[in-house]
Amino acid sequence: EKAGYKHFMGKEIAEQPVVLADALRHYLPQTGLNMPEELDFSNIDRISLVACGTAFYACSVAKYWFESFARIPVEIDVASEFRYREPPLSERGMTIFVSQSGETADTLAALRYCHEKVAKTVAVVNVPTSSIAREVDIALPIMAGVEIGVASTKAFTAQLLVLAVMALKAGRDRDQLDGPDLACHCDTLRSLPGLMNTALALDAPIAELAEHLAEAQDILFLGRGPMYPLALEGALKLKEISYIHAEGYASGELKHGPIALIDRTVPVIVMAPFDRLFDKTVSNMQEVMARHGMVLLASDAKGLKAAQDGTWAQLQLPEIAEPFAPILYAVPAQLLAYHTAVAKGTDVDQPRNLAKSVTVE
Ligand code: M6R
Repeated sequence: EKAGYKHFMGKEIAEQPVVLADALRHYLPQTGLNMPEELDFSNIDRISLVACGTAFYACSVAKYWFESFARIPVEIDVASEFRYREPPLSERGMTIFVSQSGETADTLAALRYCHEKVAKTVAVVNVPTSSIAREVDIALPIMAGVEIGVASTKAFTAQLLVLAVMALKAGRDRDQLDGPDLACHCDTLRSLPGLMNTALALDAPIAELAEHLAEAQDILFLGRGPMYPLALEGALKLKEISYIHAEGYASGELKHGPIALIDRTVPVIVMAPFDRLFDKTVSNMQEVMARHGMVLLASDAKGLKAAQDGTWAQLQLPEIAEPFAPILYAVPAQLLAYHTAVAKGTDVDQPRNLAKSVTVE
């Protein structure tokens, strides 16, 4: 069932253009946004997004979208903190739970805490028959198909896609997005399957870079704006399956501590599309290079042209409009983790100490 792939994870990474195309056909047909009527954001006063692990990083990206498209205050939290903190909630609030399995114990407990306290509970899930899907007011399936690799890949990008369409609906419901802007964002989302296919062609060059990364003790990931949570996700993916210590940081945080770790043995992976904040990220990257850190710059043609001097390696991604770049750049982040693990000879699909579904706390 691996369809010629060595690992389920490799197969699931490669499936993403098809998975996203399926989800797009459902949620974003040519006729416009297709979301349930009851998912109405007009009277909501805040959104809480709650999840664990990779699903939490999907929530962290979505915070940028809900805030910028709908101008609605958003809080994000890992479920294990949310449930015990017993946060005050608004009767006009919406809580969104994101879970591939729909069975994660902490996320389910967080949902049960919210019952009767908020206006709407919503789940973004892969398993439509799961406990979380059954217990929310509105369940939105991500339609990614069964995910077997313990390291979540296609579920992450499909979660992002569904959250992106939700954020666009929120912007429309609240009159914060005008027709042309909405249409432009929809077009960008619809272009993702094609762009992802182009990104998947980086498989071979990434496999080569991974031979070097596999030697590292520590690896840092940097990103800004919606690419910051992607840096966190890239680091999580890498540590889960290659067992190399990795951390993600917001580029601007570098000089507040982590720069002390940089020397010539530390690869620093910079995820930086040529966007509004590109120059800021480049100056952080230059601080790394001044301390002899090995910079791997993932950017587009314009970004590489402007800033590749002095970097150790480059990955060229196609251009994409700023808000949705994390969906595209997830592909090289996943491939870097995958090939580094393969180069180290670890058990990619069943990494040590991890379970696919964490049903105990
Ligand atoms: O099934 P869930 O999405 O609720 O699972 C959440 C996390 O356990 C999961 O994303 C975990 O972090 C993955 N191993 C990440 O690759």
